Amino acid sequence: MVNASADPNSEIWHRDANQYEPLDSWTDVGERRVLSEIADRTRGRAVLDVGVGTGRSTWLLRLLTADYLGIDYEPSMLERARDAHPGIRFSQMDARDLSELGDDSFALTYFSHAGLDSLDHEGRATALRELARVTKPDGLVVYSTLNRRGEFFQAGPGPVDQPQRSHAVSVARFAARAALHPRSHLAGFRNVRGHRSSFEDHVEWAIDTMPTHDWALLVHFTTVPHAVREAAEAHLEVTSVISREGDELSLDDRESRTAWFHVVARPAPGETRSAPQTNQQ
Ligand SMILES: C[S@@+](CC[C@H](N)C(=O)[O-])C[C@H]1O[C@@H](n2cnc3c(N)ncnc32)[C@H](O)[C@@H]1O
Repeated sequence: MVNASADPNSEIWHRDANQYEPLDSWTDVGERRVLSEIADRTRGRAVLDVGVGTGRSTWLLRLLTADYLGIDYEPSMLERARDAHPGIRFSQMDARDLSELGDDSFALTYFSHAGLDSLDHEGRATALRELARVTKPDGLVVYSTLNRRGEFFQAGPGPVDQPQRSHAVSVARFAARAALHPRSHLAGFRNVRGHRSSFEDHVEWAIDTMPTHDWALLVHFTTVPHAVREAAEAHLEVTSVISREGDELSLDDRESRTAWFHVVARPAPGETRSAPQTNQQ
């Protein structure tokens, strides 16, 4: 069993569940491309929507199948998802412990909107192994993840320089945001300072804060090659990586500055995928 109280982000999801404003559509063009490309092989089959939040992805995935289960570890998120989608199956579960679900159960296991990144490095590896385990041998595991080379890594609440913007534009946007949302800005600086000791940078992956939730969430960043390796360690074979902008990236890409990318993977053929060890304490 997973110790959710050791996860500092669970408090933030709980705190912000009632004000969480999900997007009303795709997170980005990359998500649209991925779902369009996998639609035919997923249609009408069992789909697991992990970290479903308030149910943004439910609208999209329900168009593909009636055999749908949405899970999240935060009860207030699920309450909102249930209100928005009466009659649809939702259940409280932690992505790191899917022991209620059998091996090879789903044709698509989906963890969208960089939800996986709010798990710490070990929790993330455990969750990926669980996603692999519950996915059918001919199924797919799809998730998005923040790019360590992208604009959100080490962004901080100050002016963020982005390749597509001039420095003057970044400073002007920063000043406008600070004037319009002074409390959230102050909270951002406080949270970044408070999280300073949690910052880690291992070059291929890192732990940092990011702008959503006033920089209160600690999130995981990775490079594309590292994402491919960590997937392999979880018995997943990455078949494609699509940028936020909808471009296919090579599996050894170290150049793209996309803020996040979508990973499409299948259970590695012939590998044994075992359920997690339970904590006997
Ligand atoms: C960025 S939100 C995304 C919500 C939704 N999928 C969307 O696209 O709007 C991430 C969600 O993942 C959930 N989450 C984070 N860690 C989780 C875990 N270990 N197990 C299950 N859900 C988790 C959070 O509670 C939150 O609802």
